[in-house]
Amino acid sequence: MLKRSAKWFINVPMIWNTFQNVVGANQWKNSIYPSVFKSRGKLLDFGCSMGNNTEAFLHFEYYGVDVDSVAIEAAKKKWEGAPNISFESLDILKQPYKNNYFDHVLFACTGHHLTDEEIPKILNALLLTLRTGGQLHFFDVIKQPGKDRFLTRLIMNNDQGKHMRTEKQYDTMFAPYSVVEKRIFPSPDHIIKLQDMLYIKLTRQ
Ligand SMILES: C[S@@+](CC[C@H](N)C(=O)[O-])C[C@H]1O[C@@H](n2cnc3c(N)ncnc32)[C@H](O)[C@@H]1O
Repeated sequence: MLKRSAKWFINVPMIWNTFQNVVGANQWKNSIYPSVFKSRGKLLDFGCSMGNNTEAFLHFEYYGVDVDSVAIEAAKKKWEGAPNISFESLDILKQPYKNNYFDHVLFACTGHHLTDEEIPKILNALLLTLRTGGQLHFFDVIKQPGKDRFLTRLIMNNDQGKHMRTEKQYDTMFAPYSVVEKRIFPSPDHIIKLQDMLYIKLTRQ
């Protein structure tokens, strides 16, 4: 019964977004994502959805892309007229995008929606969009058996992303890449403790 209610609750986007705001998830992402950037420049926000985190990057030349054209239309409407902000609907695996162009790529909270086969393909496609020395910032929520609380697990198990991984699983996945930094951001503990966030930084050689 509890699990069924959680699934219903999580699958209604407006309710889910309101919940995310109440527990501080959106504010948390908007503070930790930009905190790892040491310079400004051209930024590709891969999997930007409705421009959920655009407000944290208004001082960048910002390009949001997402395969979901409805989300991109909503993002365009929301940020219409904002200087240096643009959005495009595309599937990065099917359509090469601006090679050797970006100083930064943000690949945030999308990993747990992708299979083990898809992630390396997407990483390779995204690395090609970076100029030499450019940086890819990967964030994803992780599962931590023995540490995650009951409500954290309940939310995680009902997430639409069906590929929640441990830090160790991501270590294996990122082993072939030039990882220059890795850390875990502890999640806020407002009402409900969310999953902690893994951060991995890659540099384009
Ligand atoms: C959970 S949202 C992440 C939203 C935001 N980045 C965040 O941190 O909250 C994942 C997004 O990745 C997009 N996505 C998944 N595969 C994609 C692909 N191959 N090309 C472009 N976008 C993709 C989905 O449409 C979805 O909007």
